[in-house]
Amino acid sequence: MRSNNTGLRGLFVFAYAGVLGVTGGIALAEGDPDYDPPLAALGPVPVPPDNPITDEKTQLGKLLFFDTRLTGDASLSCGDCHDPKSGWGSPQPISRGYPGAIHWRNSHTAINTGYLSKLFWQGNAKSLESQAPTANQGAVAGNGEKDVMESRLRQTPYYIEKFKEVFGTERPNLDDAWQAIATFERAILSQRDTPLDQYLNGDEDALSEEAIFGLELFQSKANCIECHNGSMLTDEKYYNLGLPRPYEWEEFGLNTITFRWETYAKGAPEKYYREFKDDAGLYFTTKRPSDIGKHRTQPLRYLAYTPPYMHGGQFYTLEEVVEFYNEGGGENEFTDGTHGIESKTPILKPLDLTDEEMEALVIFLEEISGDEITMAVPKIPVYAVMPDVPGLDQAKAKRIGLDIYLNTIAAK
Ligand code: HEC
Ligand code: HEC
Repeated sequence: MRSNNTGLRGLFVFAYAGVLGVTGGIALAEGDPDYDPPLAALGPVPVPPDNPITDEKTQLGKLLFFDTRLTGDASLSCGDCHDPKSGWGSPQPISRGYPGAIHWRNSHTAINTGYLSKLFWQGNAKSLESQAPTANQGAVAGNGEKDVMESRLRQTPYYIEKFKEVFGTERPNLDDAWQAIATFERAILSQRDTPLDQYLNGDEDALSEEAIFGLELFQSKANCIECHNGSMLTDEKYYNLGLPRPYEWEEFGLNTITFRWETYAKGAPEKYYREFKDDAGLYFTTKRPSDIGKHRTQPLRYLAYTPPYMHGGQFYTLEEVVEFYNEGGGENEFTDGTHGIESKTPILKPLDLTDEEMEALVIFLEEISGDEITMAVPKIPVYAVMPDVPGLDQAKAKRIGLDIYLNTIAAK
């Protein structure tokens, strides 16, 4: 059906007029009696006062983002699971993990993360600065040891020079590396002025007729706006949509190990640890049973480049996603009372969308994705053996301090 878009145009115009007639009377949906901010163009990315953006810091952050030094065995960079060629995410439903392990969730795109106030499917990191170390140190992601990663930076002349330039320190500090990576994500990986922004700023030609029809449906009959609203198309709240269980958790031993380990490590009581087969999501942060099975509403701005979708990569295409919503969501062990929990959001109801309407929603989601942000992986600086300082033994180095020791080298 996708190849037949132009043939459907007449149909779209007709149906569009029909939808317009009903947009006036959207009532608040059951279960979410809140005000839904309208869709809006993206403003400038918010910058924390203690980590201002500079060009030098952005360039340093770019190198660090692609540098495998910041993992346990120096084999994996942020860019391996947030690959520019895969929408700055991972093409696998469940992300790859640290060598020998596998992750347990789908890897988000790194695009536009500077606009979010809650990161991760579970919303448990509140800033890019605090997210980066969890990625590099987390057991199924970077699995890095702080001292080792820091030493690797300090053993790299280019980094010694650049960290000094950017942060004014004699030697690279790992905490500054997180600041630089966050700056790279904020400065480079933010995308404004997409067709959606242009349209919302008054350029009516920025979206095709089909996409505009999709936008109307998004805000009316399809009720996506209930959760996907504001400038990032997310309310940053949490819902259980009744997503099916990723089959990997039942079919592959390595996936099962990570699933069970995460459930345990994130503090589920033994009963849940033994019985849960689905991802309990927000519950791991709040430990409130009513939050079991809820995940953060996803932003929808870069979707064309980021399949598969949802926290377990449950869907490969946007068509599948829209069909799932059209059926009123699904069922999982947290919707059917298996554990005495029925946390499915009452907002999702069968939508009764026609094929043309579903098609228009998909076209809308694809068109608003804007241009792909591509980037060649930069060349990573090399290690060097630090020169000996004549006459400096361990006791002396300790006494005069490493900073002065490094100065001594620099002066040579
Ligand atoms: C082994 C793969 C892997 C590596 C390495 C990795 N990530 Fe991730 N990243 C993921 C996965 C999987 C998620 C989703 C995890 C979750 O929500 O529980 C994620 C989530 C994120 C998010 C949250 C996005 C959102 O929309 O909430 C950001 C930001 C991010 N990663 C940045 C980084 C940075 C920066 C690095 C390097 C310091 C990094 N990642 C390294 C796999 C990885
Ligand atoms: C009740 C709130 C709610 C409504 C209504 C809703 N969504 Fe979602 N949406 C979510 C949540 C929560 C997620 C993440 C779910 C997860 O992975 O567990 C999500 C995820 C998605 C994703 C996956 C994005 C990604 O990066 O993986 C797409 C696409 C999407 N929604 C589109 C839509 C469309 C189109 C509609 C309207 C037909 C809609 N949503 C209605 C809450 C909602």
